[in-house]
Amino acid sequence: MNKAVLNSASVARALHAAFCRDASRQELLQLAATKIRASGSPYTGVYMYMLNDSNELVLEAFDGTPTEHDRILVGQGICGRAVQEGRDLNIRDVSADSGYLACSTETQSELVVLIRRNDDVLGQIDVDSDEPAGFDDAEETAVRKVADALATLL
Ligand code: SME
Repeated sequence: MNKAVLNSASVARALHAAFCRDASRQELLQLAATKIRASGSPYTGVYMYMLNDSNELVLEAFDGTPTEHDRILVGQGICGRAVQEGRDLNIRDVSADSGYLACSTETQSELVVLIRRNDDVLGQIDVDSDEPAGFDDAEETAVRKVADALATLL
């Protein structure tokens, strides 16, 4: 596996340090989004959705192009499908996905990684990329490590 662009260990350290300084959930989610996007291509936009009691994904932090999709019902879009199917989704060409909810016309690929605590899905890290097939196995693994770190802190 190639070395990931995203340094997940560095992001996890920053999250733990913020947690030790009593950062709020929103601050932790924003820190994760900002740190992930700061790693550069293929991370064009990072959106942190948390699952509420009404089976909706609610946007609680993001870094990148603003989106109108601040609430997404489970089952809708790529984000909602990931929760419904209980799995991470790596969409290499969003234009080929009939359920895709567009945020930016520049987006070509998208990665959704669930934030899980044991069997519970707390939310997800949704990453848009202007690159085709932007996320290889190394990037997917790195984002999953950040999601796992968040799951221990939220
Ligand atoms: N593209 C996502 C919606 C979220 S915006 O990209 C931030 C989807 O299809 O669910």
